Amino acid sequence: MSSEVEALGYIGLEVSDLAAWRVFAKEELGLQWVPRDDGTIDLRTDQYATRIRLHVGPRDDLAYAGWEVKDGAALAALAARLEGVGVTVDRADAAVAADRRVHSLIRFTDPEGNAHEAFFGPLQKTNDPFVSPTGTRFKTGRQGLGHLVLACRQKATMMEFFTETLGFRLSDHINTEVVPGRPIEISFLRCNGRHHSLALAPVPIPKKIVHLMVEVTTIDDVGRALDRCMKGGRHLTFTLGRHSNDEMLSFYPLTPSGFDVEYGWGGLEVDDESWHVLTHDTNSAWGHIYQRPPKPAKLESVA
Ligand SMILES: [Fe+2]
Repeated sequence: MSSEVEALGYIGLEVSDLAAWRVFAKEELGLQWVPRDDGTIDLRTDQYATRIRLHVGPRDDLAYAGWEVKDGAALAALAARLEGVGVTVDRADAAVAADRRVHSLIRFTDPEGNAHEAFFGPLQKTNDPFVSPTGTRFKTGRQGLGHLVLACRQKATMMEFFTETLGFRLSDHINTEVVPGRPIEISFLRCNGRHHSLALAPVPIPKKIVHLMVEVTTIDDVGRALDRCMKGGRHLTFTLGRHSNDEMLSFYPLTPSGFDVEYGWGGLEVDDESWHVLTHDTNSAWGHIYQRPPKPAKLESVA
């Protein structure tokens, strides 16, 4: 089937502690921190005006995922197919598109109520080049921002939606115990050469997002970010390791919002013509040792 979705273009996050995010995103991850007049923050990784948008709010979770399509015809075709299977599509007006820094977008939800947007014409800031505060370079381009892992409860329904309606291609499954004692099957879906832009994980967590992955262009950029996170006392949910399926060498710092970022290098590029679906029984070739998150500090008892 045809697939209009070409990349994960941007995501929006609702975060409660902007000051903590500033330290994490800017000083540790090396993202460019660009405040807007409305109090939101654009985090940049390349020439796009925004890649990760922070909105202040109590949920500490994914607010929306923005999927990039080629042009207006592709957006219209995607909207028609969504409506054809009974999905309500909101064709956002010019003000909303300007807010998202794209030419045009539509909004819809997946079967589990996660908010998605599809757009074309992302604003490019060639007059205001991306500058990482740590000198980091991110791998984006036609592979998009990175990848997103969503927690799901009805995985078969979600898989059908993303493959049959949105046109994602299945790369592989991992049957594993990411957390010891909890076997699950995670499925990895692609919409460009990146091994996966979306993964669906049937994990019983209260958040929509499991993690967001950003990829850097050198192994040393991973090492330096790891140093910065460790010097800052950042909890690592998974230690440095190499994934079995997409071969990403990465570590997982815990964000101030209680979900993870995967910070990686060396992800596999898939050729659609030669790829065949694989199955793995381990999450990682090595490393990625799970570490329990720290418990909140107990209040001092008053004598
Ligand atoms: Fe990942």
